[in-house]
Amino acid sequence: MLGVRRRIHQHPELAFQEHHTSALVRAELDALAIPYVWPVACTGVVATIAGGGGPGPVFALRADMDALPIQEMVEWEFKSKEDGKMHACGHDAHVAMLLGAAKLLQSRKDGLKGTVKLVFQPAEEGHAGGYHVLQDGVLDDVAAIFAVHINTSMPVGTVGSRPGPFLAGSARFKATITGKGGHAAMLQSVVDPVVAASSAVLSLQQLVAREIDPLQSAVVSVTFIKGGETFNVIPESVTLGGTLRSMTTEGLSYLMKRIREVIEGQAAVGRCKATVDFMEEEHRPYPATVNDEGMYADAKVVAQSMLGEANVLLCPQFMAAEDFGFYAQKIPAAFFNVGAHRAGEDISYLHTPHLVVDENVLPIGAAMHAGVAIEFLNKHAASPLT
Ligand code: NI
Repeated sequence: MLGVRRRIHQHPELAFQEHHTSALVRAELDALAIPYVWPVACTGVVATIAGGGGPGPVFALRADMDALPIQEMVEWEFKSKEDGKMHACGHDAHVAMLLGAAKLLQSRKDGLKGTVKLVFQPAEEGHAGGYHVLQDGVLDDVAAIFAVHINTSMPVGTVGSRPGPFLAGSARFKATITGKGGHAAMLQSVVDPVVAASSAVLSLQQLVAREIDPLQSAVVSVTFIKGGETFNVIPESVTLGGTLRSMTTEGLSYLMKRIREVIEGQAAVGRCKATVDFMEEEHRPYPATVNDEGMYADAKVVAQSMLGEANVLLCPQFMAAEDFGFYAQKIPAAFFNVGAHRAGEDISYLHTPHLVVDENVLPIGAAMHAGVAIEFLNKHAASPLT
């Protein structure tokens, strides 16, 4: 697993370009004599371990393979060799851990009471690879699914999650407010999109403050606003955009509807026109990642027996998003954090050039994957869910 993780770390590949990573995964599966289908959703690989312990349900384990467009700043022997690309979200470790689980499961194949599918998916970072894997149909027979994510705020040797909503649903928006440009002192002949955009930005702040249940978490952040170039000219148009989050998928849909209404409405007040684009083709909104209560409880028991009760944490909700939410929307799912912070070192964060992963997380993640799969099949063998 160390070797696999380090090789992938040195050669990170962005969303839907994971060709070498995918080839490495297939070579490792070939070496273990585990069959797979490929390509799934471009570069994805779905391996199958059919147990010899009698018919039973199909359980899936998932790892993501893509890296981020970040220049690594950590100086170490296996630093990224690709300029401007880095495994800054730990997906290199996820692939290594799932391959470790593949080996553990393959060696216990004869006693497995069902089938385990191992999903190596592309494009988690903003490009909804999980959605595209599901579209392929290769997981249509899956009864439940599990995945882990490294967490460098939690000490290595701990894992954690929570039942129900865990990670936010997420979408992006971009709006163009168009008026009529002209001389900044001849206001009778202009329609000012700057003032209309300003009203829209302020009104958007009221969505979370005035319309969302105070006990539900949601975010609307305007992260850019662009328009005009000089001091005495009113521009023709202003563009603005940002992100929205909610801990429920319904909440996300509500915010999308209201963001459109607020921007169009405020543009109309200022005699402007607005177009609002959620870029759903290129950046499909991510549903909230909601853990199935039963799956969460079962995975927690496995973790407690592996690591001791004190090392299995109840995590808070995070406003970050994950395309694992697509699986969780269709299939009973559990998503767990695995601690990857090395004691005594400063905490480094995901999605930063400074991310350092304690590689001691690898055997824990691999064992967690395998243990959860085996226990699920044991529990459901008598009454297959499929
Ligand atoms: Ni990630």
